[in-house]
Amino acid sequence: MLGGKKVILGVTGSIAAYKAADIAGQLVRHGAGVHVVMTRAAREFVSPLTLEAISGNRVHTEMFAERSGAMVHLDLGRQADLLIVAPATANLIGKVAAGLADDLLTTLVLAFRSPVLFCPAMNPAMYANPVVQRNVAALRAAGYHFCGPEAGRVACGEEGPGRLAAVEAILDRAAGLLRGADDLKGIGVLVTAGPTREPLDPVRYLTNHSSGRMGYAVARAARDRGARVILVSGPTALRAPDGVSLVSVTTAAQMFTAVSRHLPESEVLIMAAAVADYRPATAAPEKIKKGDRPLTLELVPNEDILAYAGRSKKPGQVVIGFAAETGDPGERALDKARRKGADLVVGNDVTRPDAGFDVETNAVVFAFPDGQLLRLPKMDKYEVAWRLLDEVLRIRDGGAGA
Ligand SMILES: Cc1cc2nc3c(=O)[nH]c(=O)nc-3n(C[C@H](O)[C@H](O)[C@H](O)COP(=O)(O)O)c2cc1C
Repeated sequence: MLGGKKVILGVTGSIAAYKAADIAGQLVRHGAGVHVVMTRAAREFVSPLTLEAISGNRVHTEMFAERSGAMVHLDLGRQADLLIVAPATANLIGKVAAGLADDLLTTLVLAFRSPVLFCPAMNPAMYANPVVQRNVAALRAAGYHFCGPEAGRVACGEEGPGRLAAVEAILDRAAGLLRGADDLKGIGVLVTAGPTREPLDPVRYLTNHSSGRMGYAVARAARDRGARVILVSGPTALRAPDGVSLVSVTTAAQMFTAVSRHLPESEVLIMAAAVADYRPATAAPEKIKKGDRPLTLELVPNEDILAYAGRSKKPGQVVIGFAAETGDPGERALDKARRKGADLVVGNDVTRPDAGFDVETNAVVFAFPDGQLLRLPKMDKYEVAWRLLDEVLRIRDGGAGA
């Protein structure tokens, strides 16, 4: 998504300003044209020469020094698709929230017509300050986008939200904004992802190979299209997408509780999690000791979350399931869609090496309860998620699907 796009990177006077070099480098590597604008304070932290060398373009610093007759603040902005301010200081955020434009970067932000993404970085006490929070809320309400900050240890040694978001999270948000879709704006999308773990005893559990990638891609794509996203996730190694409310669960029972709690406030439910069908009838309170005789486990069925959602679906709600199958998933996905009251079931063959669990791509079939099957070619999981959300909108609008 970044290829051929023009991005302005605004850098302000935070200790995290050095990370702007990495952000600029990654943007360039992904094919974007990058123009850097630095505040006076930012130049105390990083030399413009560094960012000039990395971006391959002259770094802009002054509003009045560049006497070429052009209006830098307007000309730069007119040519760009996205403005990222990373790191964004409390000062910069406050100035923009107050409508101030007393240097090149703030003037550029106010005059900019395309999306602006602020990536705050500051001391946790500064970020928690109600005045800063009010400014952030005001900018959000005005349509500005935010990535981070993350919680963690910041340069001054304190802990808490204030650390600049990871570079990969910033690039992910940037790519999402460049796609430019807002067609799920304000819609509540509840997504489940990952495996569940069903405990046998305090040290062992039953689980499956789900990595969570498909569900996380759905959450990111829905967020990128403007949805309010709640992601109910089983244990995964993935970073929670920025701008998404994460509810972490372990067992299928916990996932059921989380889904039933958040379903009433959601217009769309997309169940990409690989929920265990069965759990051990009892979880031993102590570690099960090794013995010489075979050990028989009794398994009992878990609540069927998709069937529950299909039953309790309100008019206007859209419920989507996933079916991980070994072999052609089309007919099974159709059967599942009909039996469980889902509006669409996404079938995938998890035995294919380039699809299903733990890979970046997927080859899926969309199965609609009226019998239609739509087979998609192999594509990136994010692209699958995007196509799925197209179908969600079509179903919401009363279309027959596909
Ligand atoms: C060593 C040092 C580190 C700083 N780090 C931050 C920071 O991470 N975030 C922040 O909001 N301000 C930070 N400041 C304060 C800003 O540099 C100061 O508010 C400045 O006026 C910001 O100007 P600008 O927003 O125009 O870049 C720091 C100051 C110093 C001296």
